[in-house]
Amino acid sequence: MFAGTELVSIVVRTAVSAEDGKLAEMGAGTVHDASLGNEIVRRINELGAISEEPEKLTRIFLSKELRQAADLIMGWMREAGMSAHLDAIGNVCGRYEGVRPGMPCLMLGSHYDTVRDAGKWDGPLGVITAISCVADLNRRGKRLPFAIEVIGFADEEGVRFASTLLGSRAVAGTFDESVLNTRDRDGVSMREALVQFGLDPDHVGAAARARRELLAYLELHIEQGPVLEAQNLPVGVVTAIAGATRLAARLTGMAGHAGTVPMALRRDALAGAAECINAIEQLCRTDEGGLVGTVGYIQARPGATNVIPGEVSFTIDMRAPTDMHRKRAVADVVRQIEAIAKRRQLALQLDVTHENRTAPCAAWLKQRIAQGIEAEGFSAFELPSGAGHDGMAMIDIADVGMIFVRCRGGISHHPDEHVELTDADAGARVLLRVIENFRPRKG
Ligand code: GLV
Ligand code: MN
Ligand code: MN
Repeated sequence: MFAGTELVSIVVRTAVSAEDGKLAEMGAGTVHDASLGNEIVRRINELGAISEEPEKLTRIFLSKELRQAADLIMGWMREAGMSAHLDAIGNVCGRYEGVRPGMPCLMLGSHYDTVRDAGKWDGPLGVITAISCVADLNRRGKRLPFAIEVIGFADEEGVRFASTLLGSRAVAGTFDESVLNTRDRDGVSMREALVQFGLDPDHVGAAARARRELLAYLELHIEQGPVLEAQNLPVGVVTAIAGATRLAARLTGMAGHAGTVPMALRRDALAGAAECINAIEQLCRTDEGGLVGTVGYIQARPGATNVIPGEVSFTIDMRAPTDMHRKRAVADVVRQIEAIAKRRQLALQLDVTHENRTAPCAAWLKQRIAQGIEAEGFSAFELPSGAGHDGMAMIDIADVGMIFVRCRGGISHHPDEHVELTDADAGARVLLRVIENFRPRKG
């Protein structure tokens, strides 16, 4: 399975502490010093320290911490020989010219926003690795017959304003301007947040790029699942990014005294929501085709121990390996929630806040990635992505390819998310090979 570098890879893995980011201690005569991995881990830790919560990593769209992170990333881009700027939605954009200025680009990217109480690797690994690859080319004075652009998308997670992929949608020219009026949990509209960030909400369209400017979009990302670990492989080729539907539900009943209203006379919105959540879980648990459903946020009002909840808001996230399967499941969930609301005499508002079809990775890019992986001495294992990625939006203006890097225990969207230094290094070496051997698809 492993070719010439097998021994080196194994030695590196046992010789390095993933946390300390020190240069790998290699035995005499060994070849590889994991220098890309060292730089990546150091920067992951530096970026991971920029958070709006003291003991947790939370960096959401248009926050002042996101702005601080943008400045740090742009500094790294400039150090790597790129020009760098913030675009009209808050994406950080770096450009490394090809043999001639103004050539179409190979775009490399991922996101630099996080979920709440996040891990450090989801998103930043792709941005930081791409910068390290460009820095390596720059150190060698190497220019390619195309430009390289590195983009850090400002919103992939959709934590703040319910709609997601806002950064990549703006670049793909599919940003829906009606979301500018949506408000976050504190009542701040996206329009206001853009102004606070130093951007003009009436000019988000300026972030859009044309298909002719891009030769392809490539993203390196942590796997966020346990498959590569089970395969004992540091990297893999992504076949497709699974589609997703997100909904926002609001049930309204009647608030009342917890001591005086008999159970039969209550219109308890939270008890209704609990039944809905249970129905979603049952549907997914009994499905044999990989359907998953999550209620990740819930708020009950007025929210007091001795008051029957009168209004409850919650979110639903539904995903499945095929779009048809997901759509059928969403329709089923909607029917069940409607029935529960009716039986309990609760008013229901149910809105689809996000819908993304499955995004297949381009065959020619999968092949280039597989060649890069094999050239590093690993077998090119293919796997689908259950998580969403910016490629889902970028596919509207470019062919998409993705490299997954193994993560420990399949843990993600959790502070324990972790990538070994040697795996970060392997991912970078594969990406560097793919970049250097990249040639635009003919025709
Ligand atoms: C992004 O991380 C998603 O898949 O929700
Ligand atoms: Mn991500
Ligand atoms: Mn994520």
